[in-house]
Amino acid sequence: MNTQTSHKNLLSWYDKHGRHQLPWRNTDDLYHIYLSEIMLQQTQVNRVRDEYYPQFLQRFSTLKSLGESPLDDVLSMWSGLGYYRRAKNLHKTAQLTQGILPTTLKELKKLPGIGQYTASAICSFGLHQAVTVVDTNISRVIKRYFALLDVSEKVVSEYAKGFLNTHNPRDHNLALMDLGSLVCVPKNPKCDECPLFDSCQGKDEAQLYTKTKKKEYISMELFFGVCIKDGKIALHLSDDNMYKDMLVLPKVEPLEENLLGSFKHAYTKYRLDVHIYSIDELDGEFVWLCAEEFENAPISSLTRKAQKFFHKKGL
Ligand code: ADE
Repeated sequence: MNTQTSHKNLLSWYDKHGRHQLPWRNTDDLYHIYLSEIMLQQTQVNRVRDEYYPQFLQRFSTLKSLGESPLDDVLSMWSGLGYYRRAKNLHKTAQLTQGILPTTLKELKKLPGIGQYTASAICSFGLHQAVTVVDTNISRVIKRYFALLDVSEKVVSEYAKGFLNTHNPRDHNLALMDLGSLVCVPKNPKCDECPLFDSCQGKDEAQLYTKTKKKEYISMELFFGVCIKDGKIALHLSDDNMYKDMLVLPKVEPLEENLLGSFKHAYTKYRLDVHIYSIDELDGEFVWLCAEEFENAPISSLTRKAQKFFHKKGL
């Protein structure tokens, strides 16, 4: 089967089965597309679509207004999404560009937090440029389709480029993305539903082309103190990498007494055992927040979970 026929079959499949309703696919606004790609990097599509993306855009309707807002406001809107460096880079990019994103791969890649993938997604989905986009889904499709074993991402990218449909590069890339997400899935791909079945070179041994890198986790124990005075809780600005620039409970040494309780928490590559103590004395600089301020502050899921936890204990 020639490439033109594969392109045609792929686009017909996308027409029928593609995820056309995703809001960032129904806009040409580069800021919206950029924001969605940053959010989608580590977060599930439904969570971004239903919660964070619309709320963020309601609060910061333009990239310019985002850049003009205090970083704390941006981090507050990102609260719970994790990987807070993404929000800081967004804010920096908004300021550096004064709200107007460049329109070439080369210029986009100079901006903080925008790598090859994000730059190509903006150029393809927002600007309809004939560039290849390779995320993990597309990479798997390309590896299977061309039966590429043990190849670098650079080689995958070259094959993707050779296969790019320059007549409709945007939909072609989105179709490959959806094919990887809905049909050419890592385990038990649904080859009987695939529009590229006839010309796929990897279909007989599809599992060979799936990376099975085992995720590595880091286990840690964390000890936090809860100090409440006049209905306000003490938090401080984190300076460790995990929650940099977010407000966190003060860390304490493991104590013999006053343990309120412990819980488990998963955050990025960390698997945490968190122990919460009640404390009366504090050393250092703190921000004191009442319940309402706490709600709207740049606070991680871990700290919110801790707050719920000690609230239940009557504090
Ligand atoms: N549409 C455009 N970019 C996307 C992404 N990264 N994930 C899911 N759908 C998308």
